[in-house]
Amino acid sequence: MEIVIKPDYETMSRCAGDFVEAWLRRKPDLVLGLATGSTPLGLYRDLIRRHRDEKLAFARVTTFNLDEYIGLPADHPQSYHSFMRENLFRHVDLDPARTHLPDGNAAEIAAECAAYEAAIRSAGGIDLQILGIGHDGHIGFNEPSSSLRSRTRIKTLTEQTVRANARFFGGADKVPRHAITVGVGTIFEARCCLLLATGTEKAAAVAAAVEGPLTAMCPASALQFHESCTLIVDEAAAVGLKRRDYYRYVYDSKPAWQQWEKSAG
Ligand code: GLP
Repeated sequence: MEIVIKPDYETMSRCAGDFVEAWLRRKPDLVLGLATGSTPLGLYRDLIRRHRDEKLAFARVTTFNLDEYIGLPADHPQSYHSFMRENLFRHVDLDPARTHLPDGNAAEIAAECAAYEAAIRSAGGIDLQILGIGHDGHIGFNEPSSSLRSRTRIKTLTEQTVRANARFFGGADKVPRHAITVGVGTIFEARCCLLLATGTEKAAAVAAAVEGPLTAMCPASALQFHESCTLIVDEAAAVGLKRRDYYRYVYDSKPAWQQWEKSAG
């Protein structure tokens, strides 16, 4: 795992923008896995700015989102379909036909999940998967005890996740209890994972994911086993990391040919 610690949310988001841009310049037909939640919003704003000011192109990119609530109309303001449209898709030159989210209103949920997995496979697999992290270490909606080999399926949200997302719905009673999420195994097959975390309220989850045991009780810990995983976190989210000075030393010592951050030198 590569762990990059940035002073604040803005620099963390810009650094993540450099990471995504480096991938896009190398592979303009990138298959990009996308996340929702408040954490990647700064990254999406940064990518929109790069598209507008620096002509960063998304025209050949294919996207797959991690998850969607079950039972919310796609045009509900809190659906992840709406979230992605408002916060990224409508601001860049992505081809709508190449953007994918699970259909939380599918008549046959199991068939929808299988079709989503097949669509990822036929796109050639995910190159770069963007991830946030839940307070309990979940990725996508893979809550604690999710099989580390799980595929796209229905999950019941924990009470903690329902409470955490209540702020978007104006009350916990309005948050759906179920979602379709790609599995930990699906995420694991991405060629590269980029996990972002901000704020002290994520510090325990980040510490468990990076320095804790590999366990289904913290699904993000599966990333320890991933071939190519970078975490970009702000200082506040890094406070629980015992070896944070070491991670800083490693990052600052990177040879020039390995660097992707534009301001690194
Ligand atoms: C939801 C999403 C996750 C996200 C998590 C954290 O559960 N399904 O993909 O990482 O929330 O969200 P936030 O970034 O708002 O803390």
